[in-house]
Amino acid sequence: MSDELTALRDELEGAVLAAGSLEALEDVRVRALGRRGAVTELMKSLGKAAPEERRERGQALNRLKQAVADAIDARKEALAQSELERRLAEERIDITLPVRPAPEGSLHPISQTIDEITQIFGEMGFRWAEGPDIEDDWYNFTALNMPPEHPARQEMDTFYLVGEAGSRPVLRTHTSPVQIRTMLDKPPPLRVIVPGRTYRSDHDATHSPMFHQVEGLAIGRSIHMGHLKGCLIAFCRAFFGVADLPVRFRPSHFPFTEPSAEVDIGCTREGGQLRIGAGGDWLEILGSGMVHPKVIANGGLDPEEWQGFAFGMGIERIAMLKYGIPDLRTMYDSDLRWLRHYGFRPLDIPGLIAEAAE
Ligand code: DAH
Repeated sequence: MSDELTALRDELEGAVLAAGSLEALEDVRVRALGRRGAVTELMKSLGKAAPEERRERGQALNRLKQAVADAIDARKEALAQSELERRLAEERIDITLPVRPAPEGSLHPISQTIDEITQIFGEMGFRWAEGPDIEDDWYNFTALNMPPEHPARQEMDTFYLVGEAGSRPVLRTHTSPVQIRTMLDKPPPLRVIVPGRTYRSDHDATHSPMFHQVEGLAIGRSIHMGHLKGCLIAFCRAFFGVADLPVRFRPSHFPFTEPSAEVDIGCTREGGQLRIGAGGDWLEILGSGMVHPKVIANGGLDPEEWQGFAFGMGIERIAMLKYGIPDLRTMYDSDLRWLRHYGFRPLDIPGLIAEAAE
Protein backbone atom coordinates (compact mmCIF):
# COMPACT_ATOMS: atom_id res chain seq x y z
CA MET A 1 0.00 0.00 0.00
CA SER A 2 1.37 3.43 -0.85
CA ASP A 3 2.34 5.84 1.90
CA GLU A 4 -0.58 8.00 0.88
CA LEU A 5 -3.07 5.15 1.40
CA THR A 6 -1.43 4.00 4.60
CA ALA A 7 -1.69 7.52 5.99
CA LEU A 8 -5.35 7.70 4.98
CA ARG A 9 -6.04 4.33 6.59
CA ASP A 10 -4.38 5.41 9.84
CA GLU A 11 -6.31 8.64 9.84
CA LEU A 12 -9.65 6.91 9.23
CA GLU A 13 -9.02 4.19 11.79
CA GLY A 14 -8.12 6.91 14.31
CA ALA A 15 -11.37 8.71 13.55
CA VAL A 16 -13.31 5.44 13.96
CA LEU A 17 -11.80 4.80 17.38
CA ALA A 18 -12.41 8.39 18.43
CA ALA A 19 -16.12 8.20 17.56
CA GLY A 20 -17.89 8.30 20.94
CA SER A 21 -21.37 7.48 19.70
CA LEU A 22 -23.16 5.64 16.91
CA GLU A 23 -23.96 8.98 15.25
CA ALA A 24 -20.34 10.12 15.30
CA LEU A 25 -19.35 6.73 13.89
CA GLU A 26 -21.87 7.12 11.08
CA ASP A 27 -20.32 10.51 10.23
CA VAL A 28 -16.92 8.85 9.91
CA ARG A 29 -18.41 6.14 7.71
CA VAL A 30 -19.99 8.71 5.39
CA ARG A 31 -16.75 10.67 5.25
CA ALA A 32 -14.80 7.55 4.27
CA LEU A 33 -17.12 5.21 2.42
CA GLY A 34 -20.16 7.36 1.52
CA ARG A 35 -20.88 8.39 -2.04
CA ARG A 36 -18.52 11.36 -1.70
CA GLY A 37 -16.30 9.68 0.88
CA ALA A 38 -12.53 9.82 0.70
CA VAL A 39 -12.12 6.13 -0.15
CA THR A 40 -15.00 6.20 -2.65
CA GLU A 41 -13.48 9.20 -4.42
CA LEU A 42 -10.15 7.38 -4.70
CA MET A 43 -11.89 4.37 -6.22
CA LYS A 44 -13.68 6.56 -8.70
CA SER A 45 -10.32 8.04 -9.73
CA LEU A 46 -8.98 4.57 -10.44
CA GLY A 47 -10.05 4.88 -14.09
CA LYS A 48 -7.63 7.74 -14.54
CA ALA A 49 -4.64 5.74 -13.36
CA ALA A 50 -2.19 4.29 -15.80
CA PRO A 51 -3.28 0.76 -16.84
CA GLU A 52 -0.19 -0.87 -15.34
CA GLU A 53 -0.87 0.71 -11.92
CA ARG A 54 -4.58 0.13 -11.97
CA ARG A 55 -4.64 -3.50 -10.77
CA GLU A 56 -2.27 -3.00 -7.87
CA ARG A 57 -3.88 0.26 -6.78
CA GLY A 58 -7.30 -1.31 -7.13
CA GLN A 59 -6.33 -4.12 -4.77
CA ALA A 60 -4.77 -1.65 -2.32
CA LEU A 61 -7.90 0.47 -2.35
CA ASN A 62 -10.07 -2.61 -1.76
CA ARG A 63 -7.92 -3.58 1.22
CA LEU A 64 -8.19 -0.02 2.54
CA LYS A 65 -11.96 -0.05 2.11
CA GLN A 66 -12.19 -3.42 3.84
CA ALA A 67 -9.95 -2.31 6.70
CA VAL A 68 -12.04 0.80 7.32
CA ALA A 69 -15.32 -1.15 7.10
CA ASP A 70 -13.98 -3.74 9.58
CA ALA A 71 -12.87 -1.02 11.97
CA ILE A 72 -16.31 0.59 11.76
CA ASP A 73 -18.05 -2.74 12.46
CA ALA A 74 -15.82 -3.45 15.47
CA ARG A 75 -16.37 0.03 16.84
CA LYS A 76 -20.12 -0.28 16.31
CA GLU A 77 -20.21 -3.45 18.34
CA ALA A 78 -18.13 -1.91 21.13
CA LEU A 79 -20.38 1.14 21.27
CA ALA A 80 -23.54 -1.02 21.32
CA GLN A 81 -22.06 -3.07 24.16
CA SER A 82 -21.21 -0.07 26.31
CA GLU A 83 -24.64 1.43 25.56
CA LEU A 84 -26.23 -1.80 26.82
CA GLU A 85 -24.09 -1.73 29.94
CA ARG A 86 -25.02 1.88 30.59
CA ARG A 87 -28.73 1.09 30.28
CA LEU A 88 -28.45 -1.98 32.47
CA ALA A 89 -26.80 0.10 35.17
CA GLU A 90 -29.14 3.04 34.79
CA GLU A 91 -32.45 1.30 34.29
CA ARG A 92 -32.02 -1.26 37.03
CA ILE A 93 -35.31 -2.22 38.73
CA ASP A 94 -35.18 -2.15 42.51
CA ILE A 95 -36.86 -5.45 43.36
CA THR A 96 -36.54 -4.69 47.05
CA LEU A 97 -39.28 -2.05 46.75
CA PRO A 98 -42.44 -3.09 48.63
CA VAL A 99 -44.98 -4.80 46.39
CA ARG A 100 -47.90 -2.86 47.74
CA PRO A 101 -48.12 0.87 47.19
CA ALA A 102 -48.06 3.06 50.28
CA PRO A 103 -51.42 2.64 52.01
CA GLU A 104 -53.81 5.52 51.72
CA GLY A 105 -56.06 4.56 54.59
CA SER A 106 -55.66 2.92 57.95
CA LEU A 107 -57.64 0.74 60.31
CA HIS A 108 -59.27 2.34 63.33
CA PRO A 109 -57.79 1.07 66.61
CA ILE A 110 -61.18 -0.46 67.47
CA SER A 111 -61.18 -2.54 64.28
CA GLN A 112 -57.57 -3.46 64.87
CA THR A 113 -58.27 -4.51 68.46
CA ILE A 114 -61.26 -6.62 67.38
CA ASP A 115 -59.01 -8.30 64.79
CA GLU A 116 -56.38 -9.02 67.41
CA ILE A 117 -58.87 -10.41 69.93
CA THR A 118 -60.57 -12.66 67.39
CA GLN A 119 -57.20 -13.82 66.10
CA ILE A 120 -56.08 -14.88 69.57
CA PHE A 121 -59.33 -16.62 70.50
CA GLY A 122 -59.56 -18.02 66.97
CA GLU A 123 -56.36 -19.93 67.67
CA MET A 124 -58.10 -21.39 70.74
CA GLY A 125 -60.96 -22.66 68.59
CA PHE A 126 -63.50 -19.85 69.15
CA ARG A 127 -65.66 -18.83 66.20
CA TRP A 128 -67.09 -15.40 65.42
CA ALA A 129 -70.78 -14.85 66.25
CA GLU A 130 -73.05 -11.83 66.02
CA GLY A 131 -76.39 -10.58 67.29
CA PRO A 132 -78.63 -7.56 66.62
CA ASP A 133 -77.96 -4.10 68.10
CA ILE A 134 -81.68 -3.65 68.74
CA GLU A 135 -82.34 -6.40 71.23
CA ASP A 136 -85.33 -7.89 72.93
CA ASP A 137 -85.73 -7.13 76.63
CA TRP A 138 -85.80 -10.88 77.22
CA TYR A 139 -82.42 -11.60 75.56
CA ASN A 140 -80.74 -8.50 76.98
CA PHE A 141 -81.95 -8.94 80.57
CA THR A 142 -84.43 -11.61 81.56
CA ALA A 143 -82.76 -14.59 79.92
CA LEU A 144 -79.51 -13.51 81.54
CA ASN A 145 -81.07 -13.90 84.97
CA MET A 146 -82.03 -10.24 85.28
CA PRO A 147 -85.82 -10.34 85.53
CA PRO A 148 -87.82 -7.08 85.49
CA GLU A 149 -87.12 -5.06 88.64
CA HIS A 150 -83.77 -6.78 89.14
CA PRO A 151 -81.39 -4.14 90.57
CA ALA A 152 -78.61 -5.07 88.11
CA ARG A 153 -80.79 -3.67 85.33
CA GLN A 154 -80.42 -0.24 86.87
CA GLU A 155 -76.78 0.16 85.87
CA MET A 156 -77.56 -0.66 82.27
CA ASP A 157 -81.19 0.42 81.90
CA THR A 158 -81.07 2.62 78.86
CA PHE A 159 -82.29 3.57 75.34
CA TYR A 160 -85.63 1.82 75.11
CA LEU A 161 -87.53 1.84 71.85
CA VAL A 162 -91.25 1.51 71.24
CA GLY A 163 -91.92 -2.00 69.98
CA GLU A 164 -94.96 -3.79 68.62
CA ALA A 165 -97.70 -5.11 70.89
CA GLY A 166 -96.35 -3.64 74.08
CA SER A 167 -92.83 -5.04 73.65
CA ARG A 168 -89.90 -2.91 74.72
CA PRO A 169 -86.90 -3.38 72.44
CA VAL A 170 -83.67 -1.99 73.82
CA LEU A 171 -80.38 -0.99 72.28
CA ARG A 172 -78.37 -3.83 73.75
CA THR A 173 -76.44 -2.78 76.84
CA HIS A 174 -73.87 -5.56 76.47
CA THR A 175 -72.96 -8.37 74.08
CA SER A 176 -74.12 -11.02 76.59
CA PRO A 177 -77.55 -11.56 74.90
CA VAL A 178 -75.63 -13.26 72.07
CA GLN A 179 -74.81 -16.02 74.58
CA ILE A 180 -78.49 -16.95 74.63
CA ARG A 181 -78.93 -16.55 70.87
CA THR A 182 -75.91 -18.77 70.22
CA MET A 183 -77.05 -21.54 72.56
CA LEU A 184 -80.52 -21.50 70.98
CA ASP A 185 -79.05 -21.52 67.50
CA LYS A 186 -76.07 -23.91 67.56
CA PRO A 187 -75.75 -27.40 68.98
CA PRO A 188 -73.23 -27.70 71.82
CA PRO A 189 -70.34 -28.05 72.46
CA LEU A 190 -69.54 -24.55 71.30
CA ARG A 191 -67.03 -21.74 71.58
CA VAL A 192 -67.84 -18.29 70.26
CA ILE A 193 -66.37 -14.84 70.38
CA VAL A 194 -68.83 -11.97 69.87
CA PRO A 195 -67.49 -8.50 69.09
CA GLY A 196 -70.04 -5.74 68.59
CA ARG A 197 -71.57 -2.39 69.47
CA THR A 198 -73.27 -1.78 72.79
CA TYR A 199 -75.14 1.21 74.23
CA ARG A 200 -75.60 2.89 77.61
CA SER A 201 -76.50 6.39 78.69
CA ASP A 202 -73.03 7.38 79.87
CA HIS A 203 -70.81 10.11 78.57
CA ASP A 204 -67.45 11.24 79.91
CA ALA A 205 -63.71 10.78 79.19
CA THR A 206 -63.95 7.02 79.73
CA HIS A 207 -67.60 6.34 78.76
CA SER A 208 -69.49 6.85 75.54
CA PRO A 209 -73.20 6.17 74.86
CA MET A 210 -72.09 3.81 72.10
CA PHE A 211 -69.10 1.60 72.68
CA HIS A 212 -67.86 -1.88 71.84
CA GLN A 213 -67.63 -5.10 73.76
CA VAL A 214 -66.50 -8.57 73.03
CA GLU A 215 -68.24 -11.51 74.61
CA GLY A 216 -66.86 -15.01 74.87
CA LEU A 217 -68.74 -18.22 75.55
CA ALA A 218 -67.53 -21.80 75.82
CA ILE A 219 -70.06 -24.58 76.48
CA GLY A 220 -69.22 -28.23 76.94
CA ARG A 221 -69.92 -31.22 79.18
CA SER A 222 -66.90 -30.80 81.40
CA ILE A 223 -65.75 -27.21 81.04
CA HIS A 224 -64.68 -25.85 84.41
CA MET A 225 -63.11 -22.84 86.06
CA GLY A 226 -59.62 -24.07 85.11
CA HIS A 227 -60.49 -23.64 81.43
CA LEU A 228 -61.78 -20.15 82.12
CA LYS A 229 -58.56 -19.20 83.88
CA GLY A 230 -56.27 -20.82 81.32
CA CYS A 231 -57.96 -19.17 78.35
CA LEU A 232 -58.10 -15.72 79.90
CA ILE A 233 -54.53 -15.78 81.19
CA ALA A 234 -53.31 -16.86 77.74
CA PHE A 235 -55.43 -14.14 76.15
CA CYS A 236 -54.16 -11.34 78.41
CA ARG A 237 -50.54 -12.32 77.86
CA ALA A 238 -50.94 -12.63 74.09
CA PHE A 239 -52.95 -9.44 73.72
CA PHE A 240 -50.62 -7.26 75.73
CA GLY A 241 -47.54 -9.07 74.43
CA VAL A 242 -46.12 -9.69 77.90
CA ALA A 243 -45.25 -13.37 78.33
CA ASP A 244 -45.17 -13.31 82.14
CA LEU A 245 -47.96 -10.77 82.67
CA PRO A 246 -49.45 -11.28 86.14
CA VAL A 247 -53.20 -12.03 85.90
CA ARG A 248 -55.49 -12.02 88.95
CA PHE A 249 -59.01 -13.44 89.33
CA ARG A 250 -61.00 -11.45 91.86
CA PRO A 251 -64.36 -12.76 93.17
CA SER A 252 -67.23 -10.65 91.89
CA HIS A 253 -70.89 -10.87 91.02
CA PHE A 254 -72.82 -10.93 87.77
CA PRO A 255 -76.39 -12.22 87.63
CA PHE A 256 -75.56 -14.45 84.64
CA THR A 257 -72.52 -16.24 86.11
CA GLU A 258 -71.90 -18.29 89.22
CA PRO A 259 -69.22 -18.05 90.44
CA SER A 260 -68.12 -14.76 88.91
CA ALA A 261 -64.67 -13.25 88.69
CA GLU A 262 -63.25 -9.98 87.54
CA VAL A 263 -59.88 -10.20 85.86
CA ASP A 264 -57.05 -7.81 86.69
CA ILE A 265 -53.65 -7.53 85.06
CA GLY A 266 -50.41 -6.41 86.70
CA CYS A 267 -49.15 -2.89 86.14
CA THR A 268 -47.14 -0.06 87.64
CA ARG A 269 -48.12 3.56 87.95
CA GLU A 270 -44.70 4.90 88.82
CA GLY A 271 -44.29 8.60 88.12
CA GLY A 272 -47.91 8.84 87.04
CA GLN A 273 -47.11 6.69 83.99
CA LEU A 274 -49.17 3.50 83.57
CA ARG A 275 -47.11 0.52 82.46
CA ILE A 276 -48.64 -2.90 81.87
CA GLY A 277 -46.55 -5.82 83.13
CA ALA A 278 -45.11 -6.83 86.47
CA GLY A 279 -45.53 -4.33 89.26
CA GLY A 280 -47.30 -3.76 92.52
CA ASP A 281 -50.55 -2.51 91.02
CA TRP A 282 -53.60 -4.06 89.36
CA LEU A 283 -55.85 -2.95 86.57
CA GLU A 284 -59.29 -4.44 85.95
CA ILE A 285 -59.87 -5.43 82.35
CA LEU A 286 -62.80 -7.83 82.11
CA GLY A 287 -65.66 -9.71 83.74
CA SER A 288 -66.09 -13.45 83.63
CA GLY A 289 -67.61 -16.48 85.31
CA MET A 290 -69.14 -19.91 84.99
CA VAL A 291 -72.41 -19.59 83.10
CA HIS A 292 -75.34 -19.62 85.55
CA PRO A 293 -77.48 -22.78 85.27
CA LYS A 294 -80.57 -20.61 84.67
CA VAL A 295 -78.82 -18.99 81.71
CA ILE A 296 -77.89 -22.42 80.32
CA ALA A 297 -81.54 -23.43 80.65
CA ASN A 298 -82.70 -20.20 78.94
CA GLY A 299 -80.36 -21.13 76.09
CA GLY A 300 -82.38 -24.32 75.68
CA LEU A 301 -79.75 -26.65 77.19
CA ASP A 302 -79.95 -28.97 80.17
CA PRO A 303 -77.74 -27.48 82.95
CA GLU A 304 -77.30 -30.99 84.36
CA GLU A 305 -75.53 -31.95 81.15
CA TRP A 306 -73.94 -28.71 79.89
CA GLN A 307 -71.83 -26.10 81.56
CA GLY A 308 -69.30 -23.53 80.54
CA PHE A 309 -67.69 -20.17 81.05
CA ALA A 310 -68.30 -16.70 79.70
CA PHE A 311 -66.54 -13.39 79.73
CA GLY A 312 -67.06 -9.87 78.48
CA MET A 313 -64.78 -6.89 78.03
CA GLY A 314 -64.86 -3.36 76.74
CA ILE A 315 -62.90 -3.02 73.52
CA GLU A 316 -62.24 0.73 73.77
CA ARG A 317 -60.82 0.27 77.23
CA ILE A 318 -58.27 -2.37 76.31
CA ALA A 319 -57.41 -0.56 73.06
CA MET A 320 -56.75 2.61 75.08
CA LEU A 321 -54.57 0.63 77.50
CA LYS A 322 -52.60 -1.16 74.82
CA TYR A 323 -52.10 1.77 72.49
CA GLY A 324 -51.85 4.62 75.00
CA ILE A 325 -54.94 6.53 73.87
CA PRO A 326 -55.81 8.97 76.66
CA ASP A 327 -59.38 10.06 75.81
CA LEU A 328 -62.14 7.70 74.72
CA ARG A 329 -64.10 10.44 72.98
CA THR A 330 -61.37 11.00 70.37
CA MET A 331 -62.17 7.53 69.04
CA TYR A 332 -65.38 8.86 67.48
CA ASP A 333 -64.26 12.32 66.34
CA SER A 334 -63.39 11.10 62.82
CA ASP A 335 -60.31 13.33 62.90
CA LEU A 336 -57.98 12.14 60.15
CA ARG A 337 -54.89 13.38 61.98
CA TRP A 338 -55.87 11.21 64.95
CA LEU A 339 -56.46 8.23 62.69
CA ARG A 340 -53.12 8.68 60.96
CA HIS A 341 -51.46 8.70 64.36
CA TYR A 342 -53.34 5.84 66.01
CA GLY A 343 -54.47 3.88 62.91
CA PHE A 344 -53.05 0.60 61.64
CA ARG A 345 -52.04 -0.72 58.26
CA PRO A 346 -54.39 -3.44 57.06
CA LEU A 347 -53.01 -6.92 57.81
CA ASP A 348 -50.84 -5.70 60.69
CA ILE A 349 -51.90 -8.07 63.42
CA PRO A 350 -49.36 -8.00 66.22
CA GLY A 351 -49.61 -9.80 69.53
CA LEU A 352 -50.36 -13.34 68.42
CA ILE A 353 -50.64 -16.00 71.06
CA ALA A 354 -47.72 -18.02 69.72
CA GLU A 355 -45.32 -15.14 70.33
CA ALA A 356 -46.41 -14.48 73.88
CA ALA A 357 -46.39 -18.16 74.77
CA GLU A 358 -42.68 -18.51 74.05
N1 DAH B 1 -71.99 -8.22 80.35
C1 DAH B 1 -71.11 -7.67 81.35
C2 DAH B 1 -71.10 -6.17 81.26
O1 DAH B 1 -71.50 -5.65 80.28
C3 DAH B 1 -69.72 -8.19 81.19
C4 DAH B 1 -69.63 -9.65 81.48
C5 DAH B 1 -69.30 -10.08 82.73
C6 DAH B 1 -69.87 -10.56 80.50
C7 DAH B 1 -69.20 -11.42 83.04
C8 DAH B 1 -69.79 -11.92 80.77
C9 DAH B 1 -69.46 -12.33 82.06
O2 DAH B 1 -70.01 -12.86 79.87
O3 DAH B 1 -69.36 -13.66 82.33
O4 DAH B 1 -70.67 -5.51 82.16
